[in-house]
Amino acid sequence: MKEKILDYLKKEQEYLSGDEIAARLGISRQGLWKHIQDLKDLGYDIVAVPHLGYRFLSSPDRLFAIEIAHGLNTKFIARKIHYFDYLVSTMDLAMQLGMQSAPHGTVVLAESQTKGRGRLGRSWFSPKYKGIYLSLILRPKILPSASPILTLLSAVSICETIKKVVGLDAQIKWPNDIFICNKKVAGILTEMNAEVDKVNFVVIGIGLNVNNDKKSLIAQATSLKEQAGQPVSRIILLQELLRRMESNYFLLEDKGAQAIIDKWRNFSLTLGRRVKIYCQDKHIEGHAVDIDRDGALLVRKDSGLMQKIFSGDVMHLR
Ligand code: BTN
Repeated sequence: MKEKILDYLKKEQEYLSGDEIAARLGISRQGLWKHIQDLKDLGYDIVAVPHLGYRFLSSPDRLFAIEIAHGLNTKFIARKIHYFDYLVSTMDLAMQLGMQSAPHGTVVLAESQTKGRGRLGRSWFSPKYKGIYLSLILRPKILPSASPILTLLSAVSICETIKKVVGLDAQIKWPNDIFICNKKVAGILTEMNAEVDKVNFVVIGIGLNVNNDKKSLIAQATSLKEQAGQPVSRIILLQELLRRMESNYFLLEDKGAQAIIDKWRNFSLTLGRRVKIYCQDKHIEGHAVDIDRDGALLVRKDSGLMQKIFSGDVMHLR
């Protein structure tokens, strides 16, 4: 009901009489008043003037499911959103929901995480209301070995979103760190529940630094606010990201992995550079030549030998 009341109020720039809204929605005036109070408690700015009615002024800077769903128009992504003020990690809950048959496209969102996880056992700094911390449950009909393409797809979607909403050029450091001006602004963590020849579900975790102040970040990290010089709407950003994820997912289904890889190459910060890659307890040095259709990095070593790297930590040398 609150969603309907908001939809209704947002459409009109003028005052709407309580009688009219209540009649349209089939509720009592008292019931309407109670819903409006609840919305105000959530931070919505709605004015009530006797004899005139109610008027919507603004939404709070919160990633409430009703805000994200409003005008989203996606077919399967974020048709179901689980929103929390804080979680230990959105990954944990998304993995649990995945095992409980949550639908393809389900999103878990938190305003902060007490133990946000990064790749390679690292943590993800998740201060409240500053960033976007989300996990997306997907049920792709692909082999487990093909799942890295979903991480590449997510990286491309983040870069496209940043360009569209903030106008900034973001780049991807292989495999899935998003950089702006050589500082990390977003990261992706992909986890999977699979059998030998079947993916049950994949959870894509995305952490994006949005309105973090420069002084709260380590020197190697940045936020969109720092780069743009002004705060950025997390709601607009997240809606665009979800739409991009969906359109790129359809592209993958229609045209195959190559279409995503071609996009990925255009955003790559790694290809064409000399790199040192730390994987397990060794490192490999060489020239990053390309990525293959599985998302593996192809590195030409100084011996001329081409090596395929499936995972690791990349250092750009020059
Ligand atoms: C990395 O760059 O190391 C990956 C970072 C992924 C962070 C996101 S935030 C939302 C989701 N929940 C987590 O605990 N981690 C991912």
